[in-house]
Amino acid sequence: MSQPESVTPASIGIHDLALATSHYRLDLGALADHQGIDPAKYSVGIGQDVMSVLAPDEDIVTMAAEATARILERNGMDGIRTLLFATESGIDQSKSAGVYVHQLVGLPETVRVVELKQACYSATAALQFAIGLIARDPSQKVLVVASDVARYDLGSSGESTQGAAAAAMLVQANPGLMAVANPAGVFTQDVMDFWRPNYRSTALVDGKGSIKAYLNAIGGAWTDYLNQGGAPFESFASICYHQPFTKMASKAHRHLAVMAGQNPAPAEVADYLADTMRYNRLIGNSYTASVYVALASLLDTHDGDLTGARVGLASYGSGSVAEFFGGVIQPGYRDLLRVQEHRSIIERRIPLDHTAYEVLHKTTLPEDGREYRTAAETTGPFRFAGMGEHMRRYERTTD
Ligand code: HMG
Repeated sequence: MSQPESVTPASIGIHDLALATSHYRLDLGALADHQGIDPAKYSVGIGQDVMSVLAPDEDIVTMAAEATARILERNGMDGIRTLLFATESGIDQSKSAGVYVHQLVGLPETVRVVELKQACYSATAALQFAIGLIARDPSQKVLVVASDVARYDLGSSGESTQGAAAAAMLVQANPGLMAVANPAGVFTQDVMDFWRPNYRSTALVDGKGSIKAYLNAIGGAWTDYLNQGGAPFESFASICYHQPFTKMASKAHRHLAVMAGQNPAPAEVADYLADTMRYNRLIGNSYTASVYVALASLLDTHDGDLTGARVGLASYGSGSVAEFFGGVIQPGYRDLLRVQEHRSIIERRIPLDHTAYEVLHKTTLPEDGREYRTAAETTGPFRFAGMGEHMRRYERTTD
C-alpha cells in the first residue's frame, strides 16, 4: 500500500549489500611468470594480486542471482517493485539479464525489470533512479544489481586488469547501511577510451588514454559536485573510487586532492584508500560492480566504527560518464555487514594454472542455435546450463 504523497522519508539509500564472484581465480604472479616479467608490475605497479575467472557455467546472470538471492533470504520480498540490472557484459541485445535473475530468485510478477548500460557507470545511475522511485513512494524498495565480467584479449596490456563480480543492493527509505545524500556531481563527455563493439567478446581500450579520461571525468564530476553545494573534500572519512585496478583509485584520489589544494604523499593516499581496495585487489575489475565492491570492502574491513561518517563514491564509466556523491553511514550498520560471507566467496575460488586459464579464456559459445550443455563446474547456487534454439538456460545447483 502506497504512502500519502506528502510523506517523504527521512533518508533513502543502501540497506543491504551482497557480493558474488567466480568459481575460479588466476593469481597475477602466474600471469607475470608466463609473461616473463617482474610480478611487482602487477602487485605494486597496478595494485592487483588476483583476478576472478568465470567457470564455463557462470556468467553475469548466475553471479547476479547469487548476490540477489542472499539479499532476499535476509530481507524478504515485501515492497520490492523494481529490479534495475546494471551491466556492460550483456548476454542479449533485447532481453534484460535481470529478467533471468527475476525468475531464478522467484520474484513476483509485480516487479518491473530493466537493464541499464553505460560502461562501468550504470550501477550508479541505477542507484540514483532507485532513489527517485522511492522518493515518490517511500513504501517501495528497489533491487539494484550490478554484474560484469571484464575481458581483454590474451597478451594485451589490459589482460592483467580482468575480473568478475556482482554487487546486489537493496535500496529503500531509512536504510541500514548508508543514506545517500544530495547533491551529486555529474560529467559526460564523448571519448573513445574503452569500448566493445557488438561483434566482440573482449573490450578494446586505449590504456593510457583511458587513465587520462578517467581523471578528467572524475575531476569534472567533483567540480560539478562542489558547484551543486557539495561537502568539502576534507570532510570525507573515505572515498570509494571505481577501481579498474586499485592503483587507479590512488591516481584519482591524488587528482581530487590536488584540486582541493592538498598534496598528499603516496603513502598517505595508500593509507586513506586501503580499506576500499582490499576486495578489488583480489577480484580485479568488475566494471559496474567495482565501486560497490569498494564500498563493501570499506564497511567490512574498516577497523573501527564508521557510524555517522561521510563517505564519497566516485563512479566512472568509459565513454564517458562520471558521478561523485556522498553518503552517511548509519547507526547499527555493522549488524548488517556480510563479512564472513564475502571472505568466503573470495577465499573459496579455485586457483587456475596459466594453461587452464587460457583454455577457459578461449572457450566460446556456439552461435548457430544448436543444443549445447555446459559442464557442471560452479559451486555457486545457480548455473548457466547451456543453450538450445538460441536460448540461454539457467538452473539452480541446489534445491
Ligand atoms: P601497461 O602498459 O601494461 O602498464 O598498461 P605500464 O607499463 O603503464 O605500467 C603500469 C604501472 O606499473 C606503471 O605505474 C609502471 O611504472 C608500473 P604508473 O606510471 O602508472 O604509476 N610498473 C612497475 N611498478 C613496480 N615494479 C615493476 C613495474 N613495472 C611497471 N617492476 C594499463 C597498464 C592499466 C594501461 C593496462 O592494464 C590497461 O589498458 N588496462 C585496461 C584499461 C583500464 O583499466 N583503464 C583504467 C581507466 S578506464 C576505466 O576505469 C574504465 C574501465 O573500467 C571500463 C569501463 O568503464 O567500462 C576500464
